[in-house]
Amino acid sequence: MLCACTREVQKFDDVAVLASPDGQINVSLTLSPQGTLRYSVDYGATPVVLPSLLGFDMRGTVKAEEFEYGTTDVTKRDSRPGFSMHDDFEVLGCTPSSFDETWSPVWGEESQIRNHYNELLVELRQKESGRLMNVRFRAFDDGVGFRYEFPDKQPLVYFVIKEELTEFAMASDNNAWWIPGDYDTQEYEYTECRLSEIKDHFWDKMRSNSSQTLFSTEGVQTALLMKTPEDLYVTVHEAALVDYPCASLLVDGDNHSMRIWLTPDAEGWKGNLQTPAKTPWRTVQITPTAEKMLASRLVLNLNEPCAYDDVSWIHPVKYMGVWWEMISNYGSWNYTDDFQSVKLGETDYSTAKPNGRHSGNNDRVRYYIDFASEHGFDALLVEGWNIGWEDWANCDKDYVFDFQTPYPDFDIEALNDYAHSKGIRLVMHHETSSSVRNYERHLEDAYNLMNKYGYDAVKSGYVGDILPQGMHHYSQWTNNHYLYCITEAAKHHIMVNAHEAVRPTGLCRTYPNLIGNESAMGTEYQAFGGITPGHTAILPFTRLNGGPMDYTPGIFEQNLKEWAGNDSHVNSTICGQLGLYLTMYSPLQMAADTPEHYSEHLDAFKFIEDVAIDWSESRYLFAEPMQYVVVARRAKDNGQWFCGGVTDEEAREFDIPLDYLGEGNFEATLYADAPDADCFTNEKAYNISTIKVTSTDTIHVRMAPGGGFAISFKPCK
Ligand code: NOJ
Ligand code: CA
Repeated sequence: MLCACTREVQKFDDVAVLASPDGQINVSLTLSPQGTLRYSVDYGATPVVLPSLLGFDMRGTVKAEEFEYGTTDVTKRDSRPGFSMHDDFEVLGCTPSSFDETWSPVWGEESQIRNHYNELLVELRQKESGRLMNVRFRAFDDGVGFRYEFPDKQPLVYFVIKEELTEFAMASDNNAWWIPGDYDTQEYEYTECRLSEIKDHFWDKMRSNSSQTLFSTEGVQTALLMKTPEDLYVTVHEAALVDYPCASLLVDGDNHSMRIWLTPDAEGWKGNLQTPAKTPWRTVQITPTAEKMLASRLVLNLNEPCAYDDVSWIHPVKYMGVWWEMISNYGSWNYTDDFQSVKLGETDYSTAKPNGRHSGNNDRVRYYIDFASEHGFDALLVEGWNIGWEDWANCDKDYVFDFQTPYPDFDIEALNDYAHSKGIRLVMHHETSSSVRNYERHLEDAYNLMNKYGYDAVKSGYVGDILPQGMHHYSQWTNNHYLYCITEAAKHHIMVNAHEAVRPTGLCRTYPNLIGNESAMGTEYQAFGGITPGHTAILPFTRLNGGPMDYTPGIFEQNLKEWAGNDSHVNSTICGQLGLYLTMYSPLQMAADTPEHYSEHLDAFKFIEDVAIDWSESRYLFAEPMQYVVVARRAKDNGQWFCGGVTDEEAREFDIPLDYLGEGNFEATLYADAPDADCFTNEKAYNISTIKVTSTDTIHVRMAPGGGFAISFKPCK
């Protein structure tokens, strides 16, 4: 029998039930006669997750003395054979509790977040082995989180996970929006189909990546969004991924069930733990509408409060970058074409012939600084500033960058002085080429260099396979590296935006200097063959569930052929790009295109200048996954409202309510796709109009195929 009896945890014969504060979501636990614990989740009378297994298969460790020596071969034998941590359990205790607090994020979609849940801690003991394991459940009004804990002082001390067996047996063959499960990349477009159809569609949207490790044609990544036949929205993800491998899901389509599939290390282990230890939270968010799913803060709430006493140095950043022109192939990261290969410390750049395309040069950087400063930006990213780009990618090269030495045409001191004189900070770029050891080798010096010249934000990157070989981007070891960089950066008062790193799980609550990640298919893919328009209408549900994305919006010149000789087309309208500043929430927002392209549309660019990037309130007005997202947000600093939306390939019309504006008259400036705009053929057609409104009005907007809109509101004087 399980136990406990309070209002939140009712007692049944062999079942404990934990209810959400509003009573709508119920988690039921059963312990089988074999001592296996299962959980299920209902939303009102609707089953969402059927009884699902909890626990692990652990792996024995190999000790040197366990080798067998033959005449020519040497065989390893497990000195401690594997053991199960999913059966033979008895319940030692069930402790219910409740929690209700409101906390203020350093930056975010709102200035206050309520964290309200009922909790049940189930303490388990394996009868024969005496091993201890707890499962801690939290029921919120918008879903459920649970994690495993391995307490101290027990037979289990050091142990290795073979498989985490946590199941999510969905009650129906839900519709799902998914990307392929991969140990190294999330840079994929989403597919929508039923759980049972995933294997049939697995290759539909496959794209190659410089580091890519698929594991099953029924493997998908989290956050996985689903819609049930009852029209409930359900998201499976994880929160607080610390010192543990990142989880994908292995789907059993025939039974519309799935289970956790952890990222292995180089030897195939799936987590080295030492008691006391705890896993990340497994999360199942359930909401009756798509808009409520976008407003759910369950993943942030399951993370620990801010770890820093002083956060005064952390701030939102609106930036431009010497970037898109390299991604589009107009310019280059590398300084010279002279070298087939580079050895740092040996290669002499001073005599090398410049290739004439190196974008990160003094004149070009000054030009960007001038433009960014004139238009009120905070910062300018410069990529390709440091030596080593001649053979940086996919060479399995350990000592690939030193993060210290500028190219001959990048005067780091003079450019920083110039930037600061214009109110701009340069954003540092640390492409690591996934040579993790090399980055850690240089990390302290690299951050010191940033401090010396006054950089306070770094964009890091992990292109290519991880070095040391065999490790993956989402292995426990690599995840620890990403967090190490964040906490070391904090000691230097540096904010981090890591590309190709593990996807966020709400850690920005604890470490708010993690102001961005890429960890999904971002705008760069518009220059790598283009992106399907609906992509930005699914990312807010999935990728953004765990934290903001450096999506790098703001492309105004869609025809890359004309200026960069690139055959790709940016599948969006100018107003679609403006809408992204609202729909893709991030405290780090880029205007990614070049000054030349913005200069041709300064009236539309005005919206990027004006739009806030830190909010006291957000209202998701209309949303449907991979179709459209419309949101209104109130700026944290001055209370100004903005609204924006994006759509997929379908044109859509909405009457935007304005009830949130409050008392008074407002001037609304609407940036709308022109009636004949289209993201493939007529991307630059837009109209800007200004109207007077009050909170009882609505504004009718029409978004063109692949387009969007943006509105800024100003109180009338
Ligand atoms: C991939 C990143 O996503 C992109 O933003 C960056 O410019 C390149 N790597 C080079 O570091
Ligand atoms: Ca990338």
